Amino acid sequence: MQYRTISNGTTSFEVSTLCLGTMFFGTRTDTATSLEILDRFADAGGTFVDTANNYNAWVGGHGRDSEDVLGEWIRRRGGLGDVRLATKLGAAKKDPALPLQTVKPTNYQGLSAEVVAREARLSLQHLEIDRIDVLYGHVDDRETPLAETVAAFGQLQREGLVGISGISNVALWRLVEAREEALRQGVDPYGVVQQGYSYVYPSPAAGRTNDVSADLLDYVQSLAAGAVESLAAGAAAAAGADGRPPLTITAYSPLHQGAFTRDDKPLWAPMRHASNRERLRVLHDVAAEIGATPNQVALAWLLGGAVPVIPVVGISSVAQLEEALAAVDLVLEPEVRARLDAADLVLDAEVRARLELA
Ligand SMILES: NC(=O)c1ccc[n+]([C@@H]2O[C@H](COP(=O)([O-])OP(=O)(O)OC[C@H]3O[C@@H](n4cnc5c(N)ncnc54)[C@H](OP(=O)(O)O)[C@@H]3O)[C@@H](O)[C@H]2O)c1
Repeated sequence: MQYRTISNGTTSFEVSTLCLGTMFFGTRTDTATSLEILDRFADAGGTFVDTANNYNAWVGGHGRDSEDVLGEWIRRRGGLGDVRLATKLGAAKKDPALPLQTVKPTNYQGLSAEVVAREARLSLQHLEIDRIDVLYGHVDDRETPLAETVAAFGQLQREGLVGISGISNVALWRLVEAREEALRQGVDPYGVVQQGYSYVYPSPAAGRTNDVSADLLDYVQSLAAGAVESLAAGAAAAAGADGRPPLTITAYSPLHQGAFTRDDKPLWAPMRHASNRERLRVLHDVAAEIGATPNQVALAWLLGGAVPVIPVVGISSVAQLEEALAAVDLVLEPEVRARLDAADLVLDAEVRARLELA
């Protein structure tokens, strides 16, 4: 296993570079299998586990099924040990009688001060722990004043109930504004952001804010560069040279839910474009050449990028976990990475001319 430090500038700790996602634990993945996967992950040195307060209400669960399985696992182990737990709030059902949906009206509970204070405490109870290492706002909430949400997360940190706060499914400008607001209020800013990200990328679409974007990678890289300069100057490792706290990206759906290798898991609609078909071809070619699986190459591509991200892998069997674990030590040679990066539909001159792109 490999490890890296995550930090909000004040609180820092080490986590495994592979994070275990538990979205279907206790629902689609039965409790016994879930516990087996958790044990194997921990035995292999895995120390970062991801859940939420609504896993999994959309496959027939009550919404805290995954947190309850984790609570049971922690109790059986006699505590968390080295494991760092991340959970999320804000996207559970506001009205229990209505369904959750990703389009308005979403029925999300949102990120008001009242929801943040209440739901974090409920997560602590379900997980049977006294501190949440990473607490994310699950989906940005533009109806609640940003200052209110930021203060609510800050209060939980002040009370010692949360280590590092984070946000998920957020536009870059909102993330930056929230971090600046935290500094104005004198509370620790979001130190982790969780977005969708994998080797295939979506077609551009207005209003799509839930993916890792080139701009987000650029922002995080600029923060990391500041940290290196500040280290050289003998300052604290946690903050950048210009005082901007660091930020870590965690990536959900890093295997595109199995679509890289399985016919029963097609690419999602925004990903079904010619460049991604080319990407999948190159992914399979590279995997065959280097003796790895396409899923392992896709994870290694995320782990070893110029801006390394932490993949949050969804796992429903120990066999799937073994495949993911083996990706952690897979290093892609620079020329292989360059080939993967460059894989896009290349239009020949005649087609470009016809499309008036030349
Ligand atoms: N912040 C957010 O809004 C958000 C959104 C989504 C997910 N998440 C987090 O991210 C985690 C991962 O998300 P995800 O489930 O979408 O990610 P994923 O890792 O891309 O997909 C996981 C699914 O891929 C299949 N799979 C995994 N390993 C495989 C293998 N070796 N071979 C073939 N198929 C394989 C499995 O499908 P089967 O079970 O059908 O076999 C598994 O359930 C979640 O558990 C959750 O913690 C967060």
